[in-house]
Amino acid sequence: MLTTAQGAKVLILLLLAAAAPHKAHAAGDVDKGKDVFATECAECHSVRDGKNKKGPTMFAVLGRKAGAVADATYSDALKASGIVWTADKIDAYVTAPKKLVPGGKMKYDGLASAGERADLLAYLATVK
Ligand code: HEC
Repeated sequence: MLTTAQGAKVLILLLLAAAAPHKAHAAGDVDKGKDVFATECAECHSVRDGKNKKGPTMFAVLGRKAGAVADATYSDALKASGIVWTADKIDAYVTAPKKLVPGGKMKYDGLASAGERADLLAYLATVK
């Protein structure tokens, strides 16, 4: 039998193991991410539900299928990509749009700073 102390240790180790995959992303800063969005993305994207600009709304983008916003105009490449917008996919897309979606039409050169991307993703997670 495990003593209570041993049991607690096992539990803590299990919790640490379960939490480990999330460490891959440094926690971003929501307020800074809002600024990054304003400078880098807002020219073409709104965060309002149903409001599309040159690009589709970023409202509730996390977990959404690529090319799924009604009334937004998408490239065939993006619609056929099969992407689901997880944080990892948005990170890769914003780093190099044409690399993740060759033939896509997002005219954005890429955000090189991993820190700014983490902030941006923290902000996007709040827009829902
Ligand atoms: C110059 C305009 C422009 C800028 C700047 C821009 N985008 Fe886009 N974005 C687009 C267009 C246009 C599309 C549609 C691309 C396609 O259909 O291939 C798009 C598509 C997307 C999609 C896919 C959405 C979906 O519904 O499938 C995401 C995610 C995205 N942009 C995020 C961003 C983020 C985050 C930034 C800022 C770092 C950004 N974009 C900057 C124009 C832009």
